[in-house]
Amino acid sequence: MRSTISLILATLATLAMSTGVFAQAPSAAEDCASCHNKSGVSDDENIPIIAGASAFFLENQLLMYQESARPCAKKEFSESEHEGIAEDHCELSKQLSEDEIIELAAYFADQPFQSADQTFDENLAKVGAQIQEQRCAKCHSDGGSLALDDAGILAGQWKAYLVSTLNDYKNGERWQPEKMGPAIEALSEQDIKALAEFYAREGMK
Ligand code: HEC
Ligand code: HEC
Repeated sequence: MRSTISLILATLATLAMSTGVFAQAPSAAEDCASCHNKSGVSDDENIPIIAGASAFFLENQLLMYQESARPCAKKEFSESEHEGIAEDHCELSKQLSEDEIIELAAYFADQPFQSADQTFDENLAKVGAQIQEQRCAKCHSDGGSLALDDAGILAGQWKAYLVSTLNDYKNGERWQPEKMGPAIEALSEQDIKALAEFYAREGMK
């Protein structure tokens, strides 16, 4: 009897691990929680939600921080409540071993994505939908909601973060895929705003 129960428990534990529901956070994730939360769903509009994006995408971002190939969130790191871990995202990522990067990416990829709690402007979202369709949908399919695209999750991401990172791309401060360049260069300030409103609307679906 007892062995049957432990077999059932063991099976349940394996199932839970494979679905990721009870996936154990690697110890390095403690250094992420003050900003991204343990769940990877941040509640600060300037800090991206990293839960549910593909492990490949997340790994690449951490490697890019190691190489300083994107801005390093210095301001967020120097704000008092987050103080003390590292000077910025680039320095923090340099403290991670390759194995830790793989573990962290797998852990956050396993956490369920949850849309940011934010409102959107319907008229601007309509304008954004057209831009998305013409210039972005080829790579960010299904309204930018698919982790499988290995291009982050845009639908439901914080608007403020999207506006800021799109400007980083436009200003050449963040590495971007060569073929995304022309689509981003063509965006006006108003287009960027409209796209952020569109992705916020997609997140409410
Ligand atoms: C002090 C706050 C802070 C801490 C601590 C922190 N992050 Fe971040 N993280 C940010 C901010 C802010 C950004 C967005 C930076 C930007 O504008 O490009 C970010 C971006 C990211 C991104 C890119 C997401 C995307 O969609 O492009 C990943 C991945 C990430 N962080 C993972 C981590 C991991 C893993 C840890 C722990 C090892 C961590 N972060 C610790 C604030 C933080
Ligand atoms: C040729 C394919 C392609 C096109 C076209 C494209 N993207 Fe991307 N995009 C990507 C890929 C791939 C990534 C991930 C890059 C990486 O790994 O750093 C990405 C990343 C992003 C990110 C960062 C997500 C994050 O979480 O930090 C944003 C925002 C973005 N794209 C917006 C857009 C918008 C808006 C358009 C249309 C104006 C667009 N992209 C067009 C391929 C594309």
